[in-house]
Amino acid sequence: MDVDALVSEATARIEAARDVAALEEIRIEVLGRKAPLVQALRELASLPPDERRARGDELNRARRSLEGVVDERARELRRRELEERLRTDRVDVTLPGVRHPRGYSHLIEQTRRDILDVFVGFGYVVVDGPEIDLVHYNFDALNHAPTHPSRQVTDTFYIADDVVLRTHTSPVQIRTMEAGPPPVYMATAGRCYRRDTPDATHTAMFTQIEGLVVDRGITLAHLKGTLLGFARAIFGAEREVRLRPHFFPFTEPSVEVDVSCFNCARDGSPCRVCKGEGWVEILGAGMVDPNLYGYVDGYDPEEVSGFAFGLGVERVAGLRHDIPDIRLLWENDLRFTGQFG
Ligand code: DAH
Repeated sequence: MDVDALVSEATARIEAARDVAALEEIRIEVLGRKAPLVQALRELASLPPDERRARGDELNRARRSLEGVVDERARELRRRELEERLRTDRVDVTLPGVRHPRGYSHLIEQTRRDILDVFVGFGYVVVDGPEIDLVHYNFDALNHAPTHPSRQVTDTFYIADDVVLRTHTSPVQIRTMEAGPPPVYMATAGRCYRRDTPDATHTAMFTQIEGLVVDRGITLAHLKGTLLGFARAIFGAEREVRLRPHFFPFTEPSVEVDVSCFNCARDGSPCRVCKGEGWVEILGAGMVDPNLYGYVDGYDPEEVSGFAFGLGVERVAGLRHDIPDIRLLWENDLRFTGQFG
């Protein structure tokens, strides 16, 4: 075996290796277990002692030389591969990024929070109630006569004879009083359901906010003052409120509450919001009918009295933002909802 020729041929191949993988293949061929050079080293033992040493030196030198060339080439290839990667993997921080649009709450949710915030500011506790409720809470304990028209299957979604999709948030009044003794300063919000044919002011699913106060010495004056504070917080500091007699089964006396128009000069000239009336109806309210205390424990009508009120979130949103048809609030057309983002 011509060792010099072998070394120079192998050196040339190593130096020509194009990448780390090719270099490894060549290394195995020239320095691996089956390489002629390595075979020759293994066969040294069979040489006569006087030849063994010189041949051994020569072969070992050749092997070390080739190992050095492989190491050098490997370093070179790794350096080049790194440079190549640095050149091509470069991140251009000046390229425009991917924009993620910011989310926002739906207008119903925004309005719900705005209203609840007012009552939280008054010190009320916000509670939750079930959307599927017993007839007992939705009607009976709210003093609805057995023949009350809103109980009819044409008005109310019945799940069973004694279970309904709640038609208002008022059942939370009873549930709250059941849960603990007076005093109560409670607000609740949530979805309600009625078998209404949808139009500009009705949807079969809608959102109400309910308030209940029960304490010693609560009067209609407290109700009016509370609703005045609410009206000014939501519709503007200049507003006034007006109570008109009405009927609800669970309040006595009952009132409908108007807020002074926030859209016109209130001089009788035509106005889209109040129709020239100067007043806009915003909610129903009243003094808790003492009969209700009979459905719960721990409320003595000789000791405590209370007021309650209920209002439609979609109506408030519609009035504040001049929305002509509340069905828009439920259609989730982004061209509409996006205006309140
Ligand atoms: N529950 C009534 C409705 O759905 C609204 C209402 C009126 C709630 C008077 C009250 C109230 O708490 O006192 O139309």
